[in-house]
Amino acid sequence: MITTQLALSLLALITTVSSLKIQHPGLTQSPLSASRAETIRTAYRTSFSAYMRYAFPHDALLPLTNSYEDPFGGWGATVVDSLSTSYLMNHTDLIDFSKTASDEISLFETNIRYLGGLLSAYELGGKQNQKLVDQAKVVGDHLATGWLEGNALPCNTLKWNDYAKPTCNDTGIAVAGTLILEMDRLSKYTGDSKYLALAKKSMAAIAQSKGVFPGLFAQVYDVKTGEAMDDYVTWGGGSDSFFEYLVKYAYLTGEEGLWLDMWVQGVESSIEHLVTHPQETQMGNLTYLADYSASRGGLLPRWGHLGCFAGGNWILGAKMIGDDRIERYGQALTGACANTYTSSPSGIGPETFVFIGEGNNTNRIKINNRPFYEQHGFGFDITQYVLRPEVVESIFYAYRTTGDTMWQEIAWQAWQAIDRHCLVKSGALAALANVNSTSPTKLDDSESFLYAEVFKYLYLVFADPEVASLDRWVFNTEAHPLMVDRPERGLFATGAGSKKRREEGKREADNRRGGSAGVFRFARGEFGAEWGGSLE
Ligand SMILES: *[C@@H]1O[C@H](CO)[C@@H](O)[C@H](O)[C@H]1NC(C)=O
Ligand SMILES: *[C@@H]1O[C@H](CO)[C@@H](O)[C@H](O)[C@H]1NC(C)=O
Ligand SMILES: *[C@@H]1O[C@H](CO)[C@@H](O)[C@H](O)[C@H]1NC(C)=O
Ligand SMILES: *[C@@H]1O[C@H](CO)[C@@H](O)[C@H](O)[C@H]1NC(C)=O
Ligand SMILES: *[C@@H]1O[C@H](CO)[C@@H](O)[C@H](O)[C@H]1NC(C)=O
Repeated sequence: MITTQLALSLLALITTVSSLKIQHPGLTQSPLSASRAETIRTAYRTSFSAYMRYAFPHDALLPLTNSYEDPFGGWGATVVDSLSTSYLMNHTDLIDFSKTASDEISLFETNIRYLGGLLSAYELGGKQNQKLVDQAKVVGDHLATGWLEGNALPCNTLKWNDYAKPTCNDTGIAVAGTLILEMDRLSKYTGDSKYLALAKKSMAAIAQSKGVFPGLFAQVYDVKTGEAMDDYVTWGGGSDSFFEYLVKYAYLTGEEGLWLDMWVQGVESSIEHLVTHPQETQMGNLTYLADYSASRGGLLPRWGHLGCFAGGNWILGAKMIGDDRIERYGQALTGACANTYTSSPSGIGPETFVFIGEGNNTNRIKINNRPFYEQHGFGFDITQYVLRPEVVESIFYAYRTTGDTMWQEIAWQAWQAIDRHCLVKSGALAALANVNSTSPTKLDDSESFLYAEVFKYLYLVFADPEVASLDRWVFNTEAHPLMVDRPERGLFATGAGSKKRREEGKREADNRRGGSAGVFRFARGEFGAEWGGSLE
């Protein structure tokens, strides 16, 4: 009796002090996964070669006309954005620094693509290539012009040339709040603390503004006063990566405190105010994350591709703090996003979708095809697919943290649909005009995040789980992996109330295991029937 008790408490002790693991313990790559990883790796190579043939040194390929466009300054966004993917896929011959670090390809206002891409490539290459840091510094010094004298928040649109100061009155939360991962690494590798100080200053200004709900902040800010100028809350475009970076910065540095606590608060507020189950449909089990704006009538029952990163982000944060309940929500959100793929005629989810909120709330949103909605739980809103990654990104987190091959099957179906509909003759992939179709029309567009993110996350779902292990790497919002400073640390503690919440979460989870019917149903057998997907 005593010995058992002793053994149990020793076991508990070992569990508490052992280092934090984000990934499912003992995860391995199956032979089937290996062959699928190889398929995606080959497709990436072919597609990237088409970019090099027809578009380099410009930013992006126009896949239907074999031409190019320069939306990001014309310094080869795709080359820089693809670096970290080529590293992870071991396509080392595609990594050519005479191209990447040439003067033509360096700068622009896009911190996440250029700065993140260069710094990630520096780390993945074993911190050998000083040119990458030098280039990153040039980008960082230009970004630093965004902060006008005395302002805590940076302007969005920079002048760039000659380090000229921009002019602006307002800025967005994602602009001001999606810098801290990259700026932290830039300060670390240049030894100049000014970059991190700027990023922290603007995050702090937002943190000090009056949130709409605790931890949930509006979108637009006065750059002088730091006051919010609207009341729009969303995990989607325009706000997304601010929330994303709160928790990822904690993970990168191993630091507990303000940013992590704010993320937890934001998630708690989201569960209270934004999480919605669709009404008037047989798919009422789905879990969505709506937008909210009091001045626009409160809850807006709309979600979309960009916001679908939230599932994976909640899973990561939940693992860091050991919170079962938030992890379950993260999986449920990921499942609901996956449903927009598995239920769509093309097998690919739309840019945005709508639903009916609780209390029969549509808030002026229209459901076009009622029978489809009743069956699948969402209605198509904006029907394009511009090669966005967020749904497969969250599936990647769900797979790596659970090891449940159900997620791999969904990812494989998504890849097959993308390959079937987007592939053009050159081997490149094109965006789609309308995913609500069994044969969507292609668009002459192929953004660099296809290479940085879609190919990478799909590959990583099937690759050896030690490649870019979540136990050691954190991805910036463009999927460039950065090395975690303290991978050996234990669970993260969060502010007051977190312990209580965690215990409640555990109790809830235990109850569920005991057979209670919770809102989450992800048991394997139910899956196909519930989401209407045929999962082989
Ligand atoms: C990467 O590719 C090189 C050259 O093709 C090969 O020698 C090496 O074994 C590969 N490494 C891994 C980890 O697959
Ligand atoms: C900023 O506000 C001032 C005063 O309202 C206005 O004159 C100016 O055009 C605004 N600047 C920009 C870049 O919008
Ligand atoms: C949720 O799914 C289960 C299993 O498919 C089903 O029995 C139940 O009716 C669903 N609940 C709602 C609210 O749709
Ligand atoms: C919800 O609204 C629709 C259309 O306005 C109506 O047909 C339906 O009965 C309402 N459902 C409930 C539960 O009020
Ligand atoms: C989706 O396609 C179906 C069948 O073609 C059509 O009835 C429906 O209106 C479409 N929905 C949207 C939002 O385009």
